[in-house]
Amino acid sequence: MPDPLHSPAAERNRQPILEVLRSVLPAHGVALEVASGTGQHVACFAAGLLRWNWQPSDAQADGFASIASWCAQSGAANVKAAVVLDVMSPRWPSEGAEFSGRFDAIYCANMLHISPWATCAALMQGASRYLSANGVLITYGPYVERTVTTSAGNLDFDVSLRETDAEWGIRALDEVTQEAALAGLRLSARIQMPARFGCSAGMTSASPVKRIICDTCLRPLSTCICHWITPTAHAVDVVLLRHPLEERSAKGSARLLHLSLAHSRVMTGEVFAERELQALLHDPFEPGAETTNDEKHAILLYPQTSEDTATLPTLTSEMLRDPSRLRLIVLDGTWRKSRKLLYLNPLLQQLPRLSLIGVPLSRYLIRKAHRANQLSTLEATCRALGQLEGNAAQFQPLLNAFDGFVTQHVAQREAGMNFGSKSSKAVI
Ligand SMILES: C[S@@+](CC[C@H](N)C(=O)[O-])C[C@H]1O[C@@H](n2cnc3c(N)ncnc32)[C@H](O)[C@@H]1O
Repeated sequence: MPDPLHSPAAERNRQPILEVLRSVLPAHGVALEVASGTGQHVACFAAGLLRWNWQPSDAQADGFASIASWCAQSGAANVKAAVVLDVMSPRWPSEGAEFSGRFDAIYCANMLHISPWATCAALMQGASRYLSANGVLITYGPYVERTVTTSAGNLDFDVSLRETDAEWGIRALDEVTQEAALAGLRLSARIQMPARFGCSAGMTSASPVKRIICDTCLRPLSTCICHWITPTAHAVDVVLLRHPLEERSAKGSARLLHLSLAHSRVMTGEVFAERELQALLHDPFEPGAETTNDEKHAILLYPQTSEDTATLPTLTSEMLRDPSRLRLIVLDGTWRKSRKLLYLNPLLQQLPRLSLIGVPLSRYLIRKAHRANQLSTLEATCRALGQLEGNAAQFQPLLNAFDGFVTQHVAQREAGMNFGSKSSKAVI
């Protein structure tokens, strides 16, 4: 295989772009790359996003050997052979059979400023035709913006582009967005990329107007957290009693926890019917299972004061001997809401309590806490399960995934993409 073409810029920017793709794309899907050029981007993204299948393309076929070579070097098997696709073509690809399916993502880097302005409308119209209902178009490149001073580097770059070809030039983000709107796409995020690329570049993500919800994590697909689900073996059952205000919170960790723990149940409410709660505390989760021998010992995860110690039943070593007979009850809400849940549901007040031993600092950087060791629902439950089952290491992968979830939330908040928190409503 001949030496592949090499773009120093692509080598510098592929990893930071991959990080953005990881934070904005759902866990899996099919992606089309428009204007693949050397192939360095698609090779890097395919190797870094193994649950995505990639279709590279370019108007010029002379880079196809290079694309194949970079992909072979990366070892990624999830990339198809490149196809000729000129965005100006009325059907994509321009040669051979038309694409039969839709793409979940279309990615196009550094084409809009190195081609005539008409390619922008063509890209948007084509993306609109070939994106799935919940798909996203992501463009990367330099933009001129009304509210951002254009850097000296970008001004020089623009002059040199126009000297090379009068039809080239750095595009105004407003105008790109207008073309997207005409094609039925709307800008859902604009992400500033590091300035070290020599000239400043932005990524934009335009998506069809409709907001599609992931039916597993129940978030918009653009902020889906399913890739953080970490199936974790556990012996102690978990019941999450969720305050209604938590249900719509993008910051909430209970859903990720529930999706990762097979023996967990979630019930949302403030005052629970006594019979229903009684069953949830002690009966087998599976309907129809024998109740007599399988009744669970419910334990409330809640701090215990010295006054409580006198009145509450104690956790005996006999109860703790068999983790599979235990059911951990977790109140999911702010401290105030958790106290309220406890106050409003007398059955909960009668349960023996589990206090966490040696609470670490919380890594829940996205929520205001009164104390540094106030943990998220997921962190507290993992610590409690580790304590009850005598195997803290078992829950570490889920805690690591939680760190990723927090990082994703921060990245999406900075990109203006999060939903459900008080200050930011859904964008997609
Ligand atoms: C500067 S390169 C960018 C390559 C790669 N995306 C990157 O960022 O490293 C621009 C690419 O746009 C492609 N291109 C230009 N006009 C095009 C069109 N009308 N349709 C599809 N690709 C086009 C060129 O062939 C070239 O490969």
